[in-house]
Amino acid sequence: MKTNKPLLISFEGIDGSGKSTQCKMLYHELLDRGYGVHLYREPGGTKISEKIREILLDRENVEMSPVTEMLLYFASRNQLISEKVLPALQRGEIVLLDRFVDSTIAYQGYGRDLSLESIRKVAEVAIGELTPDLTILVDTPLDTAEDRMDHRQLDRLEAENAEFKERTRNGYLQLAKDEPHRFLLLDGRESIDVLKGIVLERVDQILGRLT
Ligand code: TMP
Repeated sequence: MKTNKPLLISFEGIDGSGKSTQCKMLYHELLDRGYGVHLYREPGGTKISEKIREILLDRENVEMSPVTEMLLYFASRNQLISEKVLPALQRGEIVLLDRFVDSTIAYQGYGRDLSLESIRKVAEVAIGELTPDLTILVDTPLDTAEDRMDHRQLDRLEAENAEFKERTRNGYLQLAKDEPHRFLLLDGRESIDVLKGIVLERVDQILGRLT
């Protein structure tokens, strides 16, 4: 196994954006090259976090308050970073996250209209200073994203209305604008292979600097 410096990369985007496909492709590429690499989805990635995921995405939980929702996403996240992410980074490995804290800012902050300040306060407790080295935002217009999800059984968040999803998408774009060095902004209407090439180019640049 190649030894390298720790690297944390998150993938973000609205449901149906194509981010999970990119995340999996990068994971397999790095694995094939012999890196110590892990891929976790959020919410999820540990036994406890997967149980929290079920509660969060259950369409029967219509009465869930926005603050409960936000706290549960952070509870799941804290468990994942304590149990899996931090130990892997301490071993000098690469961690890919299919969603991370920017999802909560985009969905619960911009989408549900919770104050960004309150979310950042909880983030301080739940994840401390942990920040991705790179965040790949796959930005996809709502109609394209919804076409891709046509065949899926929608979960509680996916079943939200178009205004919520538009606010979430715009929230992501604002985050990318605020932190242009951390974000790689991709046009989700491009082909899977074109996007894969752009992702690999950026990751190779970072790996080149680390080794
Ligand atoms: P997934 O379908 O990408 O696995 O994500 C599950 C759903 O949870 C998705 O609709 C986005 C939503 N979500 C939030 O609302 N806030 C969060 O912090 C995270 C991680 C996901």
